[in-house]
Amino acid sequence: MQFDILTLFPDMFTGPLTESILKRATQSGLISIDVHDIRAYTTDKHHTADDTPYGGGAGMVMKAEPLAAAIRAVASHQQSITTGQQSELIEAGSPAADCRPQTLVVLMTPAGELFSQRIARELSKHDRLVLVCGHYEGIDERVREALIDRELSIGDYVLTGGELAAMVVVDAVARLVPGVIDAESIREESHTAGLIEYPHYTRPAIWEGREVPPVLLSGHHAQVARWRHEQQLRRTLERRPDLLASADLTALDRAFLESIGWIPSDGSG
Ligand code: 6GU
Repeated sequence: MQFDILTLFPDMFTGPLTESILKRATQSGLISIDVHDIRAYTTDKHHTADDTPYGGGAGMVMKAEPLAAAIRAVASHQQSITTGQQSELIEAGSPAADCRPQTLVVLMTPAGELFSQRIARELSKHDRLVLVCGHYEGIDERVREALIDRELSIGDYVLTGGELAAMVVVDAVARLVPGVIDAESIREESHTAGLIEYPHYTRPAIWEGREVPPVLLSGHHAQVARWRHEQQLRRTLERRPDLLASADLTALDRAFLESIGWIPSDGSG
């Protein structure tokens, strides 16, 4: 899967996307991450990427031309890869270049839809994601209308720009690409969709007087699985009861949750 990140601050991306699991996934060719400097698409001698807002007010707005040129350059490049056609055959900005079924152009903005595991799964179905990092007060509205497919926010707080948010999205989507992480981890995750994790332990069996729960040392796989699942239900009830409304619960799960104090909402209130 190909990730293209469009930003005014390309240096921000070197650390987080070139270490650990994403480093390995890049080296083994499962994913590819290209960071593009929007300023490289400016045409004036001062390399102006932003300007004051029409109508006045605080802050700056990212200019339409460099941003659109950057998005289209990346998109037409994709055409040449997936269709095998010479990129000159499809003029940047032409209707053909704007018709990219497997490419999704995503704008990172605090005004976007709230990013979630469900959205990460949706995005991981695409061959290519183009992530546009908004900065200053935002981007010229006409670029949003013409070239943006989806808008995402990573939470209800304001960041100085979309860069950190884009890294979060790349990380969450990349780990869902087959082969990037252990298939068993993903399988376990979808098996317990919508619940938070059970507690984990590793050696030593006693640390500073604290013991590992005996069931984990018992060798009884079914009992371990049940204990872990009940821990997930218990923790979700304690910490994120809001998640239970949309979690995939069996009748047994519901009975267990009710036995520890859960009062399910009946949907009428
Ligand atoms: Cl995507 N951008 C900015 N600037 N702030 C955010 C965000 C994005 N998501 C949450 N806060």
